[in-house]
Amino acid sequence: METILEEIARLKKERNAVVLAHNYQRAEVQEAADFTGDSLELARKATQVDAGTIVFCGVYFMAETAAILNPAKTVLIPNADAGCPMADMITGAELRELKAAHPGAKAVCYVNSTAEVKAECDMCVTSGNAEKVMALFGKDEEIIFVPDQHLGGHVAGLLGRKYILWPGYCPTHQAITAKNIADMRTAHPGAPVLVHPECAKEVRDAADFALSTGGMCHFARQSEAREIIVGTETGILHRLCKENPGKVFYPVNERMICPNMKKTTLESLRDALRDMKTRVTVPEDIARRAARAINAMLAIA
Ligand code: 13P
Ligand code: SF4
Repeated sequence: METILEEIARLKKERNAVVLAHNYQRAEVQEAADFTGDSLELARKATQVDAGTIVFCGVYFMAETAAILNPAKTVLIPNADAGCPMADMITGAELRELKAAHPGAKAVCYVNSTAEVKAECDMCVTSGNAEKVMALFGKDEEIIFVPDQHLGGHVAGLLGRKYILWPGYCPTHQAITAKNIADMRTAHPGAPVLVHPECAKEVRDAADFALSTGGMCHFARQSEAREIIVGTETGILHRLCKENPGKVFYPVNERMICPNMKKTTLESLRDALRDMKTRVTVPEDIARRAARAINAMLAIA
């Protein structure tokens, strides 16, 4: 009798499929994947794989980005209802209205956005490259940044700019408070505090570094610190612990769970491979326009 992991390995071969997983996925899903990473690393990886099928273990916009970048490949998401509430906080129509109110402004979207929103934008960014990409805009250019007010505010602060921000936010990262950080510093004196740039300003200010999930993994490998406080979704702890035996990682609070990231299970991954479902497709016109913003980003960073 095959175990579920053996079944997944066999189906991957039979289907000529590669499995990509975000750093927030369940530990066992990360273990079953061929590659685990942050949004930027996964978008890049999606352009580099030879396999005809990509199974994307993450939330919908991530699989959609892979589908936009690979129109000739089959992109599957095990749980089609695994959305990102932040991505759904602005529609294409709302962005068109905002652009009409600011004619001449450049529109930039966080990758956590729908294909329809990306199609309206000049540039896309991830938390891993936002500072580098946004630094290339001229000082006099008016910039609309959607949907995450916190990442937008963070980069504007780093670059000494003001952006027109959409009031979107991540409900999971919203659950971190500056007091959580103060309490954790008292409990673990000297441990550096990492938070995701999706956290509110007072939380970023209370932390030592605001980093993408890939940036946190890099920091942990390079750092001399033996204890690190982690202010993001707790799925990342699996990778941090695995890559850094001997170091200890503390979640900043116990509520850091993205329910949508946790929808994918070994069973739903197996079913996706077995039944070749659910296929993620993007209408051609939207995909072509969204690809411009994503490729503009990939060309820079
Ligand atoms: P990263 O690109 O840092 O992995 O972040 C994705 C995300 O959804 C954070 O909530
Ligand atoms: Fe979206 Fe937040 Fe979940 Fe990231 S953690 S996928 S931003 S809801």
